[in-house]
Amino acid sequence: MSQTIATSPSIHLGTDYIGKPTSRVDGPAKVTGAAKYAAEFNVPGLLYGYIVSSPIAKGKITKIHAEPVLTLPGVVRVFSHENVPSLAWFDRSYKDDVAPGGSPFRPLHEPKIRFSQQPVALVVADTFELARYAASVLEIEYETEAHDTDLETKRDNGYEPARGKLGWVPPPPPRGNSNDAYHNAPHQHEAEYIHLAQHSNPMEMFATTVEWLNDGQKMNIFDKTQGAYNVQSYITKVFGLSKEEARVISKYTGGGFGSGLRPQHQVFLAVLAALDLQRSVRVSLTRQQMFSLGHRPHTLQYLKLAADDNGALAAVQHAALAETSRFEDFTENVVNWSGMLYQCENVKLDYQLAEIDANSPIDMRAPGAATGSFALESAMDELAYKVGIDPLEFRLLNYADRDQNLKKPFSSKKLRECYHQGAAKFGWDKRTPKPRSMREGNWLIGYGMATGVWDATQLNASAKACFDADGRLTVSSASNDIGTGTYTIMTQIAAQTLGLPLEAVTFVLGDTNLPEAPVQGGSMTAATVGTAVQAVCRAIGEKLLKLAQQMADSPLKGANFEDVQFVNGQIRRNEDTKQSVVIRDILPAAGEAQVEAETSTLPDLLKQSHYSLHSHNAVFAEVKVDEDLGTVHVTRVVNAVAAGRILNPKTARSQVLGSVVWGISMALMEESMMDHGFGRYMNHNLAEYHIPVNADIHNIEVILVEEEDDIVNPLGVKGIGEIGLLGVAAAIANAVFHATGKRVRNLPVSIDKLV
Ligand code: MOS
Repeated sequence: MSQTIATSPSIHLGTDYIGKPTSRVDGPAKVTGAAKYAAEFNVPGLLYGYIVSSPIAKGKITKIHAEPVLTLPGVVRVFSHENVPSLAWFDRSYKDDVAPGGSPFRPLHEPKIRFSQQPVALVVADTFELARYAASVLEIEYETEAHDTDLETKRDNGYEPARGKLGWVPPPPPRGNSNDAYHNAPHQHEAEYIHLAQHSNPMEMFATTVEWLNDGQKMNIFDKTQGAYNVQSYITKVFGLSKEEARVISKYTGGGFGSGLRPQHQVFLAVLAALDLQRSVRVSLTRQQMFSLGHRPHTLQYLKLAADDNGALAAVQHAALAETSRFEDFTENVVNWSGMLYQCENVKLDYQLAEIDANSPIDMRAPGAATGSFALESAMDELAYKVGIDPLEFRLLNYADRDQNLKKPFSSKKLRECYHQGAAKFGWDKRTPKPRSMREGNWLIGYGMATGVWDATQLNASAKACFDADGRLTVSSASNDIGTGTYTIMTQIAAQTLGLPLEAVTFVLGDTNLPEAPVQGGSMTAATVGTAVQAVCRAIGEKLLKLAQQMADSPLKGANFEDVQFVNGQIRRNEDTKQSVVIRDILPAAGEAQVEAETSTLPDLLKQSHYSLHSHNAVFAEVKVDEDLGTVHVTRVVNAVAAGRILNPKTARSQVLGSVVWGISMALMEESMMDHGFGRYMNHNLAEYHIPVNADIHNIEVILVEEEDDIVNPLGVKGIGEIGLLGVAAAIANAVFHATGKRVRNLPVSIDKLV
């Protein structure tokens, strides 16, 4: 039974579980190894596929010498475009749910080489080691074409993307006259800000185990992904399968950060091989191959900001040029934030793409905003120095109480409180304004700050719940938990809604046999799936109330749902809480084994349409820079985040802590260096692609500034997966300037740029 209900804010929200710091309910499974990841399902008769990656960036395959490899005992098949079974590409036009505009890359589709490390063959063998060895000796001849992988040479080849991906918003039209306002203003700043590509590099590498089931043509596809349904709809359409034939299971995901939003090469190839061989097959990627899956795009940003003598922003111009592939228009919201974060009448925003011979970029944590805010917030810092105003004061002076892009008020915005609480905790008032004015011996000390903004999004989702006579509640939805805490917060929401002990509730996710939910991304899961979980628990509650009213001498007779509360394992009358029924007694009394409900929820778009829905943060960073060596230590970060209601301060804090680590990484270390001679990322390993280790991480403090907001969704949550990253890199780069007097506009802020 399924019903669709509009979300309603009338559901009572207690605080027994919601808002309480709660340890991860999936923690024990993870630390004991009971949690199984995609490459850990050891099914009988498993074959291993190893991907052969193209060494060239552009051209075509002219010959594949598969014969010698096939004579190796234990090698089962070499799949390539030459022999790929016709069962693939049933529907060649199909795009996954989060694909950008264009025509998606399909492995082994054609001899054409579109990017370095493109999968060109899959060697399948009895063991992983044999498959890897066979792949290493497989000889492939190529005809190379001249490639072009350098965005720097494309400054005149930009174009405005016509078709973006889900959630992409083209820049709003210009307002006012930003050219005149810029030229007439007494204080001006213009500069270019640059970052190279970056790769997500989650700890768990991408892998798929396809379990071939002999009952008909059915497969269990254990995949590393951020969205089981997205993978299933992609696989079923591409291979012409029914949903029953391709069940996708993804219970645990060892990090994603966006790299798992789209179905990746390994799932396509594992399914292809399993279908053709009618065997169970696993394909897992190496760390090097992880660099072929998509990346945060290399982007050039040009900022022009002007202010009057009082520090009021007179003009904002922000233009970005980002790389994309030759086959898809990968889009991000890079510049739009610059039209909404501060009050300004004269704004011009521009976003363009240029094609290079690389794989399509992919979303990476806070896509677009993480990089756009680096440029904007660096530029704001630079202009603050020119005007001679404290950077925090400058932002407060230009605080936007309305979203000027959308011409709407914010549903809630406690950024001012973030500034004040963050500054107080950090001790911003101890900052002396002049660069190089604070030091401790050989350490130059710098204080920097920056602001961030991110979307509060809710999509459609479904959930199912089953309450049984033993008092156990099982709630399910095919969402994902990429480490964010979804298992835990959904358990809290369910326990809260029905007044049950946390231990009595199990939340199940990551399986296409469960009700549909979107990919986990965009910080939207708490709002999206949380709303569905709350609604389905309410539906269970309504059923339990009806049954409770049928009990002999029921004290709840005649009560409407709104007249009662579910607290402490009881349904009680609001007016007189002693008038109660123990929830566990209801089903035995009714002679029922269980009650079930399934519900779909959708955002209240009409209500939301009058508002701008965003989370905000303010970041304060202290750096110590060795004056002689140029080494930068980020000794303190305070990150104050306003993201609506906080369901679980413990997992929320962890999300923000992780974001700060990402921000330190983005500021000081991360860059995927393209060797344009080969058209290949040359540091495609974790030895040369630098990320922080424990010794790089010092004191991080998180402030959660709660907001009450019944417009974003009935739970009042905005999501906290991405907002914490915003502003961190800029705050650090600004602190480095304050410490050293050197402005680095080209990330990362590495030693060579400081000495
Ligand atoms: Mo996130 S980049 O939306 O997975």
